[in-house]
Amino acid sequence: MKQRQRMTPDQLRSRWWFDNPEHPGTTALCLERYMNYGITLEELADGRPIIGVCQSGSDLTPCNRHHIELIKRVKDGIRAMGGVPFEFPMHPIHENARRPTAALDRNLAYLGLVEVLHGYPLDGVVLTTGCDKTTPAALMAAATVNIPAIVLSGGPMLNGWRGHERVGSGTIIWELRKRLAAGDIDYAEFLARTTDSAPSIGHCNTMGTASTMNAMAEVLGMSLPGSSLIPAPYKERSLVAYQTGERIVGMVWEDLRPLEILTREAFENAVTVCSALGGSSNAPIHVNAIARHAGVELTNDDWQRLGHEIPLLANVMPAGAYLCEEFYRAGGVPAVVHELLGAGRFHGDALTVNGRTMAKSIAGQETLDTDVIRRYAKPLVEHAGFINLKGNLFESALMKTSVISREFRQRFLADPADLDAFQGRVVVFDGSEDYHARIDDPDLAIDERTILVMRGAGPVGHPGGAEVVNMQPPEALIRRGIEALPCLGDGRQSGTSGSPSILNASPEAATGGGLALLETGDRLRIDLKRGEVRLLIDDSELDARRERLEAAGGYRYPAHQTPWQEIQRNLVEPLDRGMTLAPATRYRDVARR
Ligand code: FES
Ligand code: MG
Repeated sequence: MKQRQRMTPDQLRSRWWFDNPEHPGTTALCLERYMNYGITLEELADGRPIIGVCQSGSDLTPCNRHHIELIKRVKDGIRAMGGVPFEFPMHPIHENARRPTAALDRNLAYLGLVEVLHGYPLDGVVLTTGCDKTTPAALMAAATVNIPAIVLSGGPMLNGWRGHERVGSGTIIWELRKRLAAGDIDYAEFLARTTDSAPSIGHCNTMGTASTMNAMAEVLGMSLPGSSLIPAPYKERSLVAYQTGERIVGMVWEDLRPLEILTREAFENAVTVCSALGGSSNAPIHVNAIARHAGVELTNDDWQRLGHEIPLLANVMPAGAYLCEEFYRAGGVPAVVHELLGAGRFHGDALTVNGRTMAKSIAGQETLDTDVIRRYAKPLVEHAGFINLKGNLFESALMKTSVISREFRQRFLADPADLDAFQGRVVVFDGSEDYHARIDDPDLAIDERTILVMRGAGPVGHPGGAEVVNMQPPEALIRRGIEALPCLGDGRQSGTSGSPSILNASPEAATGGGLALLETGDRLRIDLKRGEVRLLIDDSELDARRERLEAAGGYRYPAHQTPWQEIQRNLVEPLDRGMTLAPATRYRDVARR
């Protein structure tokens, strides 16, 4: 590894604000106002690194709220190494409460963070993360601004229990909703059992979007190795908060910046680890977005090429049986990396925030429980990654094929000799309200061989993109034991759901995508081997439908409700491109002096 040049105090970025003879007025104004809350002149003027600590927790973001306490240990670590911490807030993003969807705020938080990191006297930053979109927002901003940055996850909740049964965040809701629909439980029991899944502080304890994205931050090299999935209440969590504070000061002196870490190899590592974790179907969106801001071209074809054949190693819900507490105790992310490295599926020389390579950082950290974290040669499922489907309706849509059961395959076989081709009649819904209003309508004639389609749920149709593609069958079908139907849509699916859906179809119906041309009663053929979804009608009929739709003014979607919804709709790119704001991806390394 190359010998790093150590920065000198007068090279610190914060000197422009705190020691700038050419702009004495700015210096004086900054000093007097920051001293106003008890920071001494020595701390500001002595050439110590000024470290931002981005607080993502608040009463509105309960999954990250314990960062309010944790951050004290981060600041202790910063001060111990001679830095000066400056805390500031991130725009709140809470997955469960934000309407119309938390994903709408990922880009808003990103923009806010970019402006803060660019415009204030910060030499480095600690980015606290947890709930789903807080992590990608932080990493996207770190890539754009490119000042030394380190991510500190708040960690998952402890295991949820009901008697001896594990109860996983989110995942339990998908199960209980079916029980509620089938009439097995009532509303009061539904609520009581759901809250069993959240026994402590922390983010969701399943391998949903929160755990996946924090694992991705670690695998990308942006948090301390082994830190991302330490359960929130464990003592190791506050230890690593302290170490994170210590380390960011070292990163400033070493001038170790995100774009040195976020390389092509790092993103390829993220893809393979996500597959081995059975990670959230939201991860390709967020990881592709971080890559775009880092200037690395990563596409859904890369996810299939690098990720599809990776086996499932993490036996964690929704794909497996355990929860993140057990995953951590079995060795966590380093143990998964260890397996992939041994199988030649991981770039061991990728750099991490500790200044060492990933291979060095995780050396010897084998799985401690081969039931929870499987050996590469004895996985839970073979080929656990996504496949990237294309066809005459869209250019890209993702599917996790590992979750398709044999019974499910057999129900839809187009040809009994080919287990990879399905065919079915579609029933089309325009957004989730339409779905809820009509799903139980007997006139739709939904049976066990129907494919449910959801459109108008992409980032333009439903600002931010709705997590609604995994649709539950009609109650009548659930009572007959049919608990899942294939679903296809231009929206997203919750990372805590394990359902076999075709997601994130891009371009979406609202921006001219082919799903807008589908009609209830059409037939679709899904060929997993060829990676293809085709609407079985003549091209001429498809063209005629497109002409009629265009003559009618295109696909309709609800009006904007807020200024940000309108701004984002005008600038947002499709889900396969990461749902980034098009102009934002042109800016990189903006804080470099
Ligand atoms: Fe916040 Fe799951 S709802 S982490
Ligand atoms: Mg979600």
